[in-house]
Amino acid sequence: MTEHGDQWRDKDPSRPVPRHVACVMDGNGRWAQRRSLPRTAGHRAAETTVIDIIEAARAAGVEWLSLYAFSTENWNRPGTEVDYLMRLVRRVVRKHAPLLLARGIRCRFLGVADPRIPRELAQDFDDLATLTADNQGMTLTVAFDHGGRRDIVEAARSLIRHGTPADEVTEHLFADHLPFPDTPDVDLVIRTSGEQRISNFMLWQVAYAEWVFPEVLWPDFRAPDFLACLQTYRRRDRRFGGVPSQTNGDPS
Ligand code: IPE
Ligand code: IPE
Ligand code: MG
Repeated sequence: MTEHGDQWRDKDPSRPVPRHVACVMDGNGRWAQRRSLPRTAGHRAAETTVIDIIEAARAAGVEWLSLYAFSTENWNRPGTEVDYLMRLVRRVVRKHAPLLLARGIRCRFLGVADPRIPRELAQDFDDLATLTADNQGMTLTVAFDHGGRRDIVEAARSLIRHGTPADEVTEHLFADHLPFPDTPDVDLVIRTSGEQRISNFMLWQVAYAEWVFPEVLWPDFRAPDFLACLQTYRRRDRRFGGVPSQTNGDPS
């Protein structure tokens, strides 16, 4: 994996590697369906992809990687699938904790508010976050029981609780009341499986993200696919409401 990453470092400093990449890990169910397997088999197959992408992102020099693992809306799925996901995530977290620690990755869990989350799983999340808190490498944020709207509502509640006068609320101050306020804006969102929607993911942080929608299903997504997404990102002209970077705005 490192060799992939090395190709990316310092090649063209004017077109940097995205600092914060966020993935909507979609398509597990369809992956299984195409093989006449239960949907849970797709979730199980996703584990390999998760590790591959964490390694690829780190090697490529991505500083922040966020993975959408379970949404506040995913509670609407059948209880058997939800239970399976809870058990699977617990197993994956425990199994790969030594690797994450060895790689210097700082792990965080975004969301994790619903009382239906098994106590042991929440404890494992806390333990891994504590274990890796002082790591200086990439920050891995796993969005689990996450909803972008919920985070925004919680930030509003927090401002009100602090007695903040309405006129003092700025975008900057508002962002300070979101969970993990040190998280930089997302530069690139990758949503696999061809679906093209936001599904309530990090709504505040993706305001000016670039998006790519590879057709490949998450369990088949691998480091070269991830690096191709970084390449697509590098070709994008990010304007932030301005004019193309090669012009001064005059018609040519
Ligand atoms: C994403 O894959 C995993 C989770 C939402 C937990 P899906 O389970 O949504 O897969 P599809 O979209 O049904 O193929
Ligand atoms: C979004 O995928 C959530 C995760 C990948 C964890 P979904 O498959 O749940 O989203 P919708 O229902 O297609 O919008
Ligand atoms: Mg889906």
